Amino acid sequence: MATAAVNDDNQVPATVYHPQTGPEGTVIEIDKFSLWYGAKQALFENTLNFEKGLVTALIGPSGCGKSTLLRSLNRMNDLIDGLRVAGEIRLEGQNIFNRDLDVIGLRKRMGMVFQKPNPFPMSIADNVIYPLKVDGVRDRKVLEETVARSLKGAALWEEVKDRLKDNALGLSGGQQQRLCIARAIAADPEVLLMDEPCSALDPLATIKIEDLINELRGRYTIVIVTHNMQQAARVSDNTAFMYLGTIVEYGQTDTVFTRPKSERTQDYVTGRFG
Ligand SMILES: Nc1ncnc2c1ncn2[C@@H]1O[C@H](COP(=O)(O)OP(=O)(O)OP(=O)(O)O)[C@@H](O)[C@H]1O
Ligand SMILES: [Mg+2]
Repeated sequence: MATAAVNDDNQVPATVYHPQTGPEGTVIEIDKFSLWYGAKQALFENTLNFEKGLVTALIGPSGCGKSTLLRSLNRMNDLIDGLRVAGEIRLEGQNIFNRDLDVIGLRKRMGMVFQKPNPFPMSIADNVIYPLKVDGVRDRKVLEETVARSLKGAALWEEVKDRLKDNALGLSGGQQQRLCIARAIAADPEVLLMDEPCSALDPLATIKIEDLINELRGRYTIVIVTHNMQQAARVSDNTAFMYLGTIVEYGQTDTVFTRPKSERTQDYVTGRFG
């Protein structure tokens, strides 16, 4: 699979693949995946796998296509006018673009956390169980158990267990983001997609989210977009470096940061551009 990188300044080097393999193998396969916004191509024949139970960081300069790739995984881009895709993305072997695929079901299997915490204007408990309620779950015991399990899973339980009925908008930014993670795991997804989940948080709240990601590792497959190199190095097993809509290098985080194969990766991770 390994390909020699070409380090020509005018050319995007060929992708180098040496990712760490997950204990249970691959969960998502991206296969020659391209995406166009109208006439503008944003992703170019990307091929890479996400390994089950591992944390993969997506890094690269602004506008290189990280969010586009992340949002493709649960088909969040579907509603954009003029969007066109080519190639495949397979979740557990099934092409997510199959016509008969249930998109709502797909999104349940992939929880998503955004850059800005987006709790709903309702109580803390109601935020967590929102996805279950939408699904028609009414059993109080199930709902109460989900609130406790998800908030514990998101390392927020101790801070909020005595005020579950309070409005979620009264929480701090970091608490709100952990609440959004609790909501994302309430429906017990297989994959967690995080698009710069700490960029609106202070350093202390950021560390809490990073600790949480480390705790969630193994149980969920996590794909995290981040602009913070230290964060990618701290939380991820594998790192994919994107440039101009192409995965330039993909490998074990340690290798990508300390012994990258491509000069462009080297320049980016050492802060020479970006
Ligand atoms: N809805 C859209 N319609 C048209 N073009 C878009 C749309 N969303 C993104 N793009 C374009 O696609 C390219 C990739 O954008 P994307 O948001 O995926 O980049 P990114 O790597 O996440 O950047 P950032 O680090 O700034 O968040 C950019 O050129 C962007 O302008
Ligand atoms: Mg983005």
